[in-house]
Amino acid sequence: MAQDNIESTLHEDRHFPPSTDFLKTASLSADKLNTLYEQAKNDNQVFWADQARSEMDWQTPFTTTLDSSNAPFYRWFPDGKLNVSYNCLDRQLKDNADKTAIIFEGDQGDVQYISYRQLHARVCIFANTLKAQGITKGDRVIIYMPMIAEAVIAMQACARIGAIHSVVFGGFSASSLKDRIEDTQAKLVITADGGHRGGRIIELKSTTDSALESGCDSVEAVIVFKRTGHDISMQSGRDVWWSDAEQNQSSDCEPVWVEATHPLFLLYTSGSTGKPKGIQHSTGGYLLNAITTMRWVFDIQDSDVFWCTADVGWITGHTYVAYGPLATGATIVIFEGVPTYPDAGRFWDMCERHAVTIFYTAPTAIRALIKQGDDIPNSYDLSKLRLLGTVGEPINPEAWMWYHNVIGKQRCPIVDTWWQTETGAHMIAPIPAVTITKPGSCTRALPGIDAAVVNEQGEEITTANQGGYLVMRQPWPSMIQTVWGDDQRYKDTYWPMFDGKYYLAGDSARRDEEGFFWIMGRIDDVLNVSGHRLGTMEIESALVANPLVAEAAVVGKPHEIKGEAVFAYVVLKGERPAGGIDDELTQQLRAWVGDQIGAIAKPDDIRYADNLPKTRSGKIMRRLLRTIAKGEEITQDTSTLENESILPQLQGKV
Ligand code: WTA
Repeated sequence: MAQDNIESTLHEDRHFPPSTDFLKTASLSADKLNTLYEQAKNDNQVFWADQARSEMDWQTPFTTTLDSSNAPFYRWFPDGKLNVSYNCLDRQLKDNADKTAIIFEGDQGDVQYISYRQLHARVCIFANTLKAQGITKGDRVIIYMPMIAEAVIAMQACARIGAIHSVVFGGFSASSLKDRIEDTQAKLVITADGGHRGGRIIELKSTTDSALESGCDSVEAVIVFKRTGHDISMQSGRDVWWSDAEQNQSSDCEPVWVEATHPLFLLYTSGSTGKPKGIQHSTGGYLLNAITTMRWVFDIQDSDVFWCTADVGWITGHTYVAYGPLATGATIVIFEGVPTYPDAGRFWDMCERHAVTIFYTAPTAIRALIKQGDDIPNSYDLSKLRLLGTVGEPINPEAWMWYHNVIGKQRCPIVDTWWQTETGAHMIAPIPAVTITKPGSCTRALPGIDAAVVNEQGEEITTANQGGYLVMRQPWPSMIQTVWGDDQRYKDTYWPMFDGKYYLAGDSARRDEEGFFWIMGRIDDVLNVSGHRLGTMEIESALVANPLVAEAAVVGKPHEIKGEAVFAYVVLKGERPAGGIDDELTQQLRAWVGDQIGAIAKPDDIRYADNLPKTRSGKIMRRLLRTIAKGEEITQDTSTLENESILPQLQGKV
């Protein structure tokens, strides 16, 4: 396993005890939290079994909590049966039917309120629509939608009939969409004529058409939701409007009871090698931790208005938009647009108008909004906010302080939540009424989660502030089940250490004197751009697929707002442009990567060289490229370099 020296350079001594305001109403006190930790410590399985019984409705109760016979393919609650949509919606019908489930706000400012009763009916109608299209339990369905209520309706409808959804982020290109369709062998694609974003229309149907142009033979039908009303083409025999397909469908739909281990969804995420991996999540275990973390970390209560700004195309939009909040009967906000349209006050304006009490976003968004100045948030009434959260990458202490002072007015605890697509739900995070927070630390592992920092040999590092690998030493309910269609890759990627006993998160971390966790970054070649994981391999493959490009190496370069920016070194098949710079070609290659993967993967910089820095064994020296991209002095040993003379070109000096 390749590892750069893990060095900790951040020192942060500020401490923030939970606010007294928050303590008054919080449901998880220090005593109750201690009891949870105690119970989990006494018997982890009994602990999770108790939680699973009290938090979810089972059609067939489980008798086995965890089947580890085929580890690391752990199976939680294997003989129990339940339905996620039932647990999210039907459970609310008795006492909460008229409560608002979704407050939807479009890019253009249009607002819709959907009660639990209405949401239940719409999900049932759409579930029946899916059945009428021939979709049954276990079939894969691709959802490629704007961030609108119907995206959640489509997800819930799949869950209702046991179909396995795979949501593809609306910013991904036709080629990324096609890869996912082919890997899942999906029968159906649900999309829209487009979406609104920052005043522009995002094409979704035409992108779907390009994806389906060749290959994708598994797809039998495309359901198209009319969102923008702009002109698109419909292919007869394949494409059907959502509203037409729904005609005459009943609003009664008996849920399909599935095994707790039945896959609820697949979500693709980048790895360091090869194509994106289809992370497979279960039904019972996944929902359990979606619920427990809503209670423990977000302290969700009946009167809350909960706004997680993530798109449903990412795991955060699954667990903390589509499932966790609904399973706890919350009112959620769904927003189609961007934080800066029509102006940089949009988030705060929406917090005020919808009386948002819990706000959850990513450091990249916070950093972008800091740049707009304090006057903007200061001109809105943010007094309803009681809790703030962040996710996706380490938050810089200064951004944390701004969030705390300017948005939270020093009243609102901040929960810095560490987790991953693979973990399904928060793993390391503060308990808002209990944990003393420190800017930049995600604090402690949650009850029942056995997180540790270990060295190469898998031994726990006990020296404070010494970095190592972040691992989980025990399985947990919402864990990844496997990589879709590739069990071996699942084992190799996540369980390579200590005889496969520890789950390797792929992050480096340290613990301070009090045992608080500080995430230091990725240990593999994965970039974190605006809180989203991108494999350098994927971007390199995309570049090399261009007929002009012979070789490419991609590294991350620190970026003020995005966290990391993509920096590419390219060797052309033809002549190297003079001085290693060619703006026109760079624009062309950027657009090319945008088409191959999506706009998020476009390199910010491209530098052309006659060769890449390689060791004598032919390995590209990425550490060196990272140093150069940062513009730092080269201090590492370059004597193993096969072609040392290439350095000035890579540095942009000649
Ligand atoms: C990073 C997002 C520091 C980390 C839910 C992880 C974080 C990867 C935090 C997962 C945090 C996420 N502090 N780093 N609070 N949260 N990360 O799969 O590197 O999109 O491995 O899941 O994001 O990204 P993913």
